[in-house]
Amino acid sequence: MRSMNTFAATTRQLVVPVSITVLCALLTACGGGSEASPSAGTQAVSRAAVGEKIFFDTSLSEPAGMSCATCHDPERAFTDPRALAISMGVSEGVIPGQFGGRNAPSIAYHVLTPAFGFAEEGPYGGLFHDGRAATLADQAGGPPLSAVEMHNPDMASYVDKVKSSAYADDFKRAWGNNVFDNIADAYNKITATVAEFEKTDSRFAPFTSKFDYWLKGRVQLSSDEQQGLILFNARDKGNCAACHPSIAPSSATPPLFTDFTYDALGVPRNTAIPANADPDYYDLGLCGPVRTDFSSPTLCGKFRVPTLRNVAITAPYFHNGKFSNLRDVVKFYVTRDIDPELWYPLDGNGNALKFDDLPDQYKINVNINEPPYDRRPGDAPALTDAEIDQVVAFLNTLTDGYSPP
Ligand code: HEC
Ligand code: HEC
Repeated sequence: MRSMNTFAATTRQLVVPVSITVLCALLTACGGGSEASPSAGTQAVSRAAVGEKIFFDTSLSEPAGMSCATCHDPERAFTDPRALAISMGVSEGVIPGQFGGRNAPSIAYHVLTPAFGFAEEGPYGGLFHDGRAATLADQAGGPPLSAVEMHNPDMASYVDKVKSSAYADDFKRAWGNNVFDNIADAYNKITATVAEFEKTDSRFAPFTSKFDYWLKGRVQLSSDEQQGLILFNARDKGNCAACHPSIAPSSATPPLFTDFTYDALGVPRNTAIPANADPDYYDLGLCGPVRTDFSSPTLCGKFRVPTLRNVAITAPYFHNGKFSNLRDVVKFYVTRDIDPELWYPLDGNGNALKFDDLPDQYKINVNINEPPYDRRPGDAPALTDAEIDQVVAFLNTLTDGYSPP
């Protein structure tokens, strides 16, 4: 959505690490990153294999019962398949009735997410909806100790669980016999091991959607799908590609449908989130309260643009999981400023309380100038109902696991 300058800056950041990591993903034999010991080159494969065991091990929560895969199921592009997560918009932790404040995103394709940084026009990259984790290893250290996720009281209890697991010897073979001697060091190696799995297993970056086969000329898109792609790209129609590019910035990888920038969309408040019972609580993304390193008011309400790969199977949508239906998301984009009463609660006079999930002083950050949001009441929406269906048809071509004829 940004000027070409930003695009170029982002692209520069991307190209070098991407080509190396993709190579790693293809060969599964690259070094284990900065944490690696000198012999890492030969051990990366077994580290990834141990990482896979940790990722799926439900005995690593307190009490037992929850693994990373509970909220990131490979059958659903690594999102939370549980009915409650979809209806409420957020995931339940291992302690019943404990919910986080955000939608569990797909964790596919993050091997290609650049580290958090600032380009000319603003922040981009990083992991989590607010970009606060720099690397997959940093990220993997969060859930085990989160009270609303895996609920381990401290690093030691998590490390102990790995130490008494069936694959503890594999873990020692991957990192050395003394690996459990120091708790903090062992914890970091566990998270690096999980990251190694996420970086190298092809399930995390398959590029096997109908769209990918179409790019290779192996399959035709239907006329609705093709029309949907045109509307998705067209600046005066969906303009989706401005933030979710359908053309890759370099030939190193196929398009990822995110430019990794941040924006405030004014997504309606999700009152099912327990934290939102407090009317003074607001999740402001980049400017907190989860992230704590920025206080600049211009960043408040901004969340990272997510990939749209697999979006047809990854409901709920947006950082707060407010929407459970993909068509509603597209309709929200094109009617938010024309018929806001469709989406927001009404005040006593029947007027929509627009952008109700932001305090008044930050509503100004919501993007109201870029298509498809540049409409005002009385205007025609950027997409008709039939065109919304075509965009949704196109989004359905982004699901991995397509079998070409
Ligand atoms: C209880 C559900 C739950 C569990 C268990 C869980 N996650 Fe997550 N995961 C989430 C949520 C919610 C977010 C988004 C949080 C945020 O943005 O603040 C997330 C975000 C992520 C991200 C960043 C995705 C992005 O779009 O930037 C990665 C990577 C990830 N999780 C990996 C893991 C790993 C590895 C584990 C196991 C060690 C794990 N998760 C366990 C719910 C969960
Ligand atoms: C100006 C930038 C911008 C434009 C234009 C844009 N998006 Fe987005 N999109 C975002 C951001 C930012 C988010 C995440 C917002 C949040 O979570 O609060 C998002 C989220 C989404 C999601 C939810 C994905 C998920 O996994 O939760 C979908 C679906 C989506 N966009 C589709 C579209 C479509 C279709 C269009 C065109 C009609 C479009 N977007 C146009 C920036 C944009």
